[in-house]
Amino acid sequence: MFPIRRHRRLRQNEAIRSLVRETIITPNDFLVPLFIVEGKSVKEEITSMPNYYRYSLDFLKDEVKLLWRLGLRSVLLFVKVDDSLKDNKGTEALNPNGLMQRAIKTVKEVCPDMLVMTDVALDPFSSYGHDGIVEKGKIINDATVEVLAEMSISHAEAGADFVAPSDMMDGRILRIREGLDQSGFIATGIMSYSAKYASAFYGPFRDALDSAPVDMANVPKDKKTYQMDSANRNEAIRETEMDINEGADVVMVKPGLCYLDIVRDLRNNFDIPIAVYQVSGEYAMLKAAAEKGWLDHDSVMLEQVTSIKRAGADIIASYFAKDVVKLIS
Ligand code: PBG
Repeated sequence: MFPIRRHRRLRQNEAIRSLVRETIITPNDFLVPLFIVEGKSVKEEITSMPNYYRYSLDFLKDEVKLLWRLGLRSVLLFVKVDDSLKDNKGTEALNPNGLMQRAIKTVKEVCPDMLVMTDVALDPFSSYGHDGIVEKGKIINDATVEVLAEMSISHAEAGADFVAPSDMMDGRILRIREGLDQSGFIATGIMSYSAKYASAFYGPFRDALDSAPVDMANVPKDKKTYQMDSANRNEAIRETEMDINEGADVVMVKPGLCYLDIVRDLRNNFDIPIAVYQVSGEYAMLKAAAEKGWLDHDSVMLEQVTSIKRAGADIIASYFAKDVVKLIS
């Protein structure tokens, strides 16, 4: 009889499809990025990220409680810093009473069991919009790493569970691990952005935090001397291996959809939790297409996050987290 194997038998109705489905999305898959600003009663929509907002600390409380009720248990904090507080060394990042430090305490106050991860990088605090200290047109690696270690300790002191260095300096995981341990924070985890590409998909995020590299003489126009070249695949393995050896607890690939080959490479090479950051540009693209009626928002969104998990992600950092969880519950 031709053909003996009929693959369509396993697809003939939703019952059998759900029985053999290999990838199931649950609220436990998500890490929710949150943008925080100074002020009172602020909930401002980010222009290039429809339906995504910056919150002041008082409104952050409500948002965090809502996330918890929806079953979302982890947040990744980013702060928008006033220009007057920015300098080349990101000094404000170390302020024990800075916005990030207060945000960490605020989340823990209303929701002590919420896992709090913090962005560790200079760019929101840098007058030049770079993830590192700028000197004579170059990003200075080792001096930057010292600041990142201090910043991580400061976040741990405020109560962060994990620090998430997103800067791509060499050797920062080791220095951060040493710094945390020497300060007694042996339980504070490190989620390393280990394969972070110099991507044009970060545009809306830089709008959200007003953190784009400035257009000035002697300031690099882009982040290509530290973030990876999107043409490279083997390099992602070298980067990730180094971060694991330096003590990363979780590694990350960023952006998401264009880089799922990298996710699978890491999955096949390393036995460590892998996070994927579905970034702001990926969010903006779908929102724009859906707004025009060109794509079905919910179906495409679910297909995208499922593909990220299927590629090998254990953790998905996504601006869609809330929408997905509402859709599947
Ligand atoms: C910066 C940082 C960026 C993102 C997270 N951390 C932007 C950049 O590297 O310029 C991007 C996230 C997104 O686009 O959603 N340290």
